[in-house]
Amino acid sequence: SVESDYETILVRREERVGVITLNRPEALNALNTTVARELVAAAEEFDRDESIGAIVITGSERAFAAGADIAEMAGISFREAHLGDFVGGWAALARLRTPRIAAVSGYALGGGCELAMMCDLIIAADTAKFGQPEINLGVIPGMGGTQRLTRAIGKAKAMDLILTGRMMGAEEAERAGLVSRVVPAAALLDEALKTAAVIASKSLPSVYAAKEAVDVAFETVLAEGLRFEKRAFYSMFALGDQKEGMAAFLEKRKPDFGND
Ligand code: HXC
Repeated sequence: SVESDYETILVRREERVGVITLNRPEALNALNTTVARELVAAAEEFDRDESIGAIVITGSERAFAAGADIAEMAGISFREAHLGDFVGGWAALARLRTPRIAAVSGYALGGGCELAMMCDLIIAADTAKFGQPEINLGVIPGMGGTQRLTRAIGKAKAMDLILTGRMMGAEEAERAGLVSRVVPAAALLDEALKTAAVIASKSLPSVYAAKEAVDVAFETVLAEGLRFEKRAFYSMFALGDQKEGMAAFLEKRKPDFGND
């Protein structure tokens, strides 16, 4: 299968959940162009598959991802950065409609933190360490860090992290609003898979619409978001899943979605 063709990631499915595991242990899962290409391809394949309702992206116990691959980046010129658009490929991941959960243990630094923030929820092990240490390398975040981190945790903390390059532990990250839940490291994958399975059990079009509407809150102003939400809400009444979901409640049974 296509799944065995990847060099830098492991891909599997657990019922309605797609699981992508970064697998470059020798470099703490540093994100090079191969990882970018493979991870985006695998996620796009899951996104096209109607039997998949959520995607979990994870790393190892020691590192979710320690950033963009510094060895690969070190020599590139301004011209190559621009013409090669070498971070541009990641945008496709952030655009997918399927909800993504980042299950983060250990380091999520630089591009690793930015990858986690391209997911819809971050579930963190108590060992997780988030940071944007690009400043220590004489650069700045380039995969969304200055934008998504600032929107997630506010200017005060984002400035602190981005200007000093310091790491933030799981508890601080949860307090700051970056992380949805913190769990003991040993329970991380299980918690992420269970959460993904819950999401994947819902009406798929409702999940897409709910996610899209929350994303609009992140991307636009309130009035625009409220208009978007109202239109999306009304459109749900065209779905069999709405009839089924509400009938099931009234008949005191479990809904059986996806049959229209
Ligand atoms: C390439 C990396 C790497 C990275 C770690 N390694 N991070 N290789 N790119 N980002 C490699 C190390 O070189 C080393 O290889 C091996 O992984 C283990 O790492 P160590 O440093 O020996 O481990 P440790 O002492 O435990 O320190 C862990 C660490 C440190 C604190 C996470 O590795 C670290 O600071 N890494 C860099 C973090 C960083 O600056 N990330 C931001 C990158 S810039 P060898 O062969 O020596 O064993 C970025 C920009 C994104 O992400 C914007 C757009 C692209």
